[in-house]
Amino acid sequence: MSDPVVELRNVSKIYRMGSSEVRALDHVSLKVMPGEFISVVGPSGSGKSTLLSIIGCLARPTSGRVLIDGVDVTDMSEGELSDIRCLKIGFVFQFFNLIPTLTALENVELPMIFAGKLSEWEMRDRALELLDLVGLLDRANHRPSEMSGGQQQRVAIARALANDPTLVLADEPTGNLDSKTGAEVISLMEELNRETGKTFIIVTHDTNVARRTRKILYMVDGRLYEDPNEIPMFKEFRSRKDREKLLSELEIEVEELLSQLQAVKGGKGGVKELRDTVLRVRMGVRRIRRRLDEI
Ligand SMILES: Nc1ncnc2c1ncn2[C@@H]1O[C@H](COP(=O)(O)OP(=O)(O)OP(=O)(O)O)[C@@H](O)[C@H]1O
Ligand SMILES: [Mg+2]
Repeated sequence: MSDPVVELRNVSKIYRMGSSEVRALDHVSLKVMPGEFISVVGPSGSGKSTLLSIIGCLARPTSGRVLIDGVDVTDMSEGELSDIRCLKIGFVFQFFNLIPTLTALENVELPMIFAGKLSEWEMRDRALELLDLVGLLDRANHRPSEMSGGQQQRVAIARALANDPTLVLADEPTGNLDSKTGAEVISLMEELNRETGKTFIIVTHDTNVARRTRKILYMVDGRLYEDPNEIPMFKEFRSRKDREKLLSELEIEVEELLSQLQAVKGGKGGVKELRDTVLRVRMGVRRIRRRLDEI
């Protein structure tokens, strides 16, 4: 089996601000396999962007280890990290982050210039190919201000793919788009994931976006959960529901016992019948006590 594209081992990230500290990531462990299409959801401030910046080698963890494509990058120099970012990872941001003075084509060429692997003509060819892939060949010579939000984000996606990364990280890629355009951008990512096998990790607030991915990770208070039932808040909610269910069952049982007592009280039954009822009620009370102890 192949190596995970991303592996986090017990990663914490603490931001220190004067005397106070924020634990933005709290012992996060994660493995992402090649070709996965994942979203990360969670409340504002829960650590989603911090998670992406650690995976994207833009920030270092306070503790724990980070592996990209099976290589431990935790102790790499800034230069080595910048090579990893340039060659292995594509970034897509909420505000597109295109260079306003460059055309769509030049924006897509830029990461290839940094990588320095292709000739000028090869870079041009590849940039045109990528613009074609995102359906924007006819906007190659437009500057960002001459394109719609959705088109700018598609250029940003083409730029993210420029150096043929294994991993694409997107932080709220639809956050600045209307829902229809946002859906188109996600469809494009889905298609690229399917056709190129690249791994996508998408941070989003939008449940419609999350639903489109094959795996959803939940971030709450710096902790990462693959199963929403494990989130403490939900766990408590579930046990409260269990308790309410048990209490209403007991309520029915108590009613039943009371009606049996009423029946013997008002009835003309003999001593034996009375004794039987008392016995049943006693047993019922004992059963209820036992179940009350469970709550
Ligand atoms: N550079 C920083 N210095 C200090 N604290 C920071 C820094 N970056 C983030 N934090 C804090 O770390 C926590 C996690 O922030 P992060 O940006 O990862 O959250 P988020 O889940 O992306 O939120 P949002 O959905 O609002 O974008 C927050 O409490 C935030 O205030
Ligand atoms: Mg964020």
